Amino acid sequence: MVYGFIGTGAITAAIVTGLCDGQADAPQILVSPRNRAVSADLAQRFASVRVAADNQAVIDGASALILAVRPQDAAAALAGLAFPPHMPIISLMAGRTVTRVRELVAPATDVVRAIPLPAVSAREGATPIFPASDIAIALFDRLGTALPVADEDAFAAFGAATATMASYFTFIRAIADWLVGRGIPAEQAQRYLAAVFAGLAGPLRRGERDFARLAHDHATPGGLNERLLGYLTEAGAFASVQSGLDDIASHIARAMAD
Ligand SMILES: NC(=O)c1ccc[n+]([C@@H]2O[C@H](COP(=O)([O-])OP(=O)(O)OC[C@H]3O[C@@H](n4cnc5c(N)ncnc54)[C@H](OP(=O)(O)O)[C@@H]3O)[C@@H](O)[C@H]2O)c1
Repeated sequence: MVYGFIGTGAITAAIVTGLCDGQADAPQILVSPRNRAVSADLAQRFASVRVAADNQAVIDGASALILAVRPQDAAAALAGLAFPPHMPIISLMAGRTVTRVRELVAPATDVVRAIPLPAVSAREGATPIFPASDIAIALFDRLGTALPVADEDAFAAFGAATATMASYFTFIRAIADWLVGRGIPAEQAQRYLAAVFAGLAGPLRRGERDFARLAHDHATPGGLNERLLGYLTEAGAFASVQSGLDDIASHIARAMAD
């Protein structure tokens, strides 16, 4: 298998790192020359990575293609390229349906969409894919877990849920800033919060799915966690998360219709 990447930016760097870093059986990888600094860096770090002369050379040398350009660059990046009809293609482009990607890569039709996240670089990603294909499942299982979803609506819902990461860090930052405001050194606040939140990931990693029970288990009746949870619930913080996600889902739907 030779994986070919058109668009060598942040997410391609994360995937290639996950496939190659410390891996004795790293696959052969061809990357497009853009971005020049990122592609050169990957080729320099990993023996199985080569930089192709141009986007057509990526296609010609690959047995599966990954499209990792920004959606607004797709038409320019893919125009005029010759796609073999049976080439398996995995598109990472947000807001571009399978039907729209097929138009861009005709006569190829074997198109799968995927939403890998930066955790794939440590092979700890959970990557929604639609429709399921053996090649996409094998690729993303190597990078953590492939998560085949039922249809493109479910895929769009996962796409919306990825919008929560910056808010997560801003939640932690609000706590850190509050501690610093009470005279605690920033470095001590950072170390403390890193340990608290890394520790809370443990039950999720072990497969715990009952979030209400986890919240209950971390809130002594009448205690401090219960009090802050009640305050934030009353203030509408969690209802806002859901209405915000509704807004993101509508935004994605409008972008897909454009
Ligand atoms: N980052 C994520 O976590 C993530 C997660 C899931 C999906 N995605 C999707 O993956 C895609 C890439 O995201 P990204 O964050 O990796 O973006 P990025 O860092 O901006 O990378 C996109 C790359 O495409 C290159 N490019 C632009 N025009 C090109 C062309 N004509 N031919 C070849 N390459 C071209 C850019 O090169 P220059 O730098 O030279 O312009 C850039 O290196 C997007 O569609 C995004 O929706 C990203």
